[in-house]
Amino acid sequence: MENTDLLAIAKEHGSPVYVYDSSKITSQYNRLFNAFKKVKQVKLNYAVKALSNLSILKLMKSLGAGLDTVSIQEVRLGLLAGVAPKDIVFTPNGVSLEEIEEVAAMGVQINIDNLSILEQFGTKHPNIPVCIRINPHVMAGGNSKISVGHIDSKFGISIHQIPHILRIVENTGMKINGVHMHTGSDILDVDVFLYASEILFDTAKHFKDLDFIDFGSGFKVPYKEGDIETNIEIFGEKLSKRFNDFCKEYGKQLTLGFEPGKFLVSESGYFLAKVNVVKQTTSTVFAGIDSGFNHLIRPMFYNAHHEIINVSNPTGKERFYSVVGYICETDTFATNRRINEITEGDIIAFKNAGAYCFSMASNYNSRYRPAEVLWHNKKAHLIRKRETFEDLLHNQVTTDIFSKETEKA
Ligand SMILES: Cc1ncc(COP(=O)(O)O)c(C=O)c1O
Repeated sequence: MENTDLLAIAKEHGSPVYVYDSSKITSQYNRLFNAFKKVKQVKLNYAVKALSNLSILKLMKSLGAGLDTVSIQEVRLGLLAGVAPKDIVFTPNGVSLEEIEEVAAMGVQINIDNLSILEQFGTKHPNIPVCIRINPHVMAGGNSKISVGHIDSKFGISIHQIPHILRIVENTGMKINGVHMHTGSDILDVDVFLYASEILFDTAKHFKDLDFIDFGSGFKVPYKEGDIETNIEIFGEKLSKRFNDFCKEYGKQLTLGFEPGKFLVSESGYFLAKVNVVKQTTSTVFAGIDSGFNHLIRPMFYNAHHEIINVSNPTGKERFYSVVGYICETDTFATNRRINEITEGDIIAFKNAGAYCFSMASNYNSRYRPAEVLWHNKKAHLIRKRETFEDLLHNQVTTDIFSKETEKA
């Protein structure tokens, strides 16, 4: 997108505002799909948690993607977007048996990640095939919060518990139709993916009724100019060959699945905010914007890097700034960043704002969550209105108990 497009959107829809470029989502989807073109059956299930706006889900459906979901609410959003239940996988962690049963009754593919629920579900519903999420005991991921496949992680059933899984399957008569793993996010090294994939292939050999193998996600995307990213093409080439060989050994054409979030939407997103104040202190120059970690928490939560550009003054002299929010805790987006000279009132854009940005936004400090705009065919489409004061009050129940107590006193 051009700076002028972003500025026009900020002018029309106000700030702060999230903007997503549909053409980037489409090209990323095609890139990943094409990397596995040598495999007969491939299914990419978009991880809804990354960005769950209905228009984004509809775009994914139009591209041929299914959905990966973690809550019954995400499943309902997917169904509302027109995605068929058979194209949705439910991969929750630590949710109740009741929620899993409710989702299964909708016809959605269930993925179970602990033995207790597997045994209970298999006993009650032996005729509903389920996928199992294994924990491959691989330490991978950009930081500890997003490394989820290691031995201390709460996710998945340990590969050392396969005998126990088999006992449950035999005793209940249930059918395992898929095996799955997800080792973490922001994984750069193709060899780490391939190493973990071998563990999944070893697991798959134990189950005779498989329809698919789901390799999860975690591909690293670039966050700045010249940044490194997972080499999807090389990974595709290597895993496709290994997968096709495995299918031959297994004696059946299986579907190869992934559930990417960040890879599909991260780079499509821009978060636009206005600089309210430029504050020179004894040690630094702060650019204080009309937002905070209530709208974009990744820098504070994960130390995530988001490139920041001054779209109002893209050719101005570069200076160093610490970009901070308006929240009542220290909410620093970036420290000592080289940015084209900022004047109060300028619109700045955070890049890579498609994944885990709006979807992690909150109303902290009683602020409204921002609007969302989809840039499609060179036109801006509002896909979520900015919240209003009424939205903050929506579920509050007003009571007059205190006025009655005052009257009595
Ligand atoms: C089970 C599962 N699948 C897929 C994803 C998406 O990962 P990414 O955004 O790195 O592609 C996640 C992310 O948390 C996840 O937990």
